[in-house]
Amino acid sequence: MLPLHGTILLVGPPGTGKTSLAKGLASETAAVFNKSGFRLIEIDPHALGSAMMGKTQKAVSDLFSQTIAEAAMAGPVIVLLDEVETLAADRSKLSLQANPIDVHRATDAVLVQLDALAETHNNLLFIATSNFPQAVDSAFTSRCDLVLEIPLPNRVACEQILVDCLKGLAQTYKPIGDLATGAKFAATVDDLVGLDGRAIRKMVASALTMRKEVAVDPMLLTDSDLAAAAKAAKAVRGAKGEER
Ligand SMILES: Nc1ncnc2c1ncn2[C@@H]1O[C@H](COP(=O)(O)OP(=O)(O)OP(=O)(O)O)[C@@H](O)[C@H]1O
Ligand SMILES: [Mg+2]
Repeated sequence: MLPLHGTILLVGPPGTGKTSLAKGLASETAAVFNKSGFRLIEIDPHALGSAMMGKTQKAVSDLFSQTIAEAAMAGPVIVLLDEVETLAADRSKLSLQANPIDVHRATDAVLVQLDALAETHNNLLFIATSNFPQAVDSAFTSRCDLVLEIPLPNRVACEQILVDCLKGLAQTYKPIGDLATGAKFAATVDDLVGLDGRAIRKMVASALTMRKEVAVDPMLLTDSDLAAAAKAAKAVRGAKGEER
């Protein structure tokens, strides 16, 4: 009655937590099912061979019709298809550098296999991610039951990511925990708006290396170090934005 394919697609800019969310969703779902019967299969699309070498189509067909189908027969399965644009490339935008026929076949194979699996296995969930939704074939997107956009974090989320990061560090270097209530904290968070979660965590890493004394003893990290690193990270992102 309902044309469900058991497929969720998470799309959004790099570093916004799509892969982490997909993995988290997989383990949360696992907790609902009987754990012993549950299986998570993570697909590295790059390991399936190069479309240009004409290998991908067979690798995709074997993966879906053998590995995944066999796992689904044994119990509930979640399949993580990270960077799905490499598997289900938009056939209407194929460049002439890649071998268009082989890429075409690989995408076709994904679509055919998705249809076949959806028909025979109702205990199978695909979670796909992409930061190039425009590069994903529209026939794949159309098969997704849910397309979720994962945007850049808003100010509250930026603050939470930074606090979480500082708390984690404070487990080893206690004084770092106090920086979340420092005088410059709010201004630092303001500068983080526009960065993705990965960039925020990397900003903290770079704050720890900007002064030699701090690199030697992370307990010497100050809120000025964090503020300076946040400004630098924002400037880099701003410059990239202007390049586009
Ligand atoms: N909203 C968030 N909250 C907490 N941490 C985050 C968030 N977004 C990203 N991160 C952190 O950033 C890092 C990168 O996340 P992840 O690999 O899931 O991003 P992604 O969206 O899959 O990126 P890409 O598109 O480049 O593959 C992880 O260490 C993750 O913990
Ligand atoms: Mg990812």
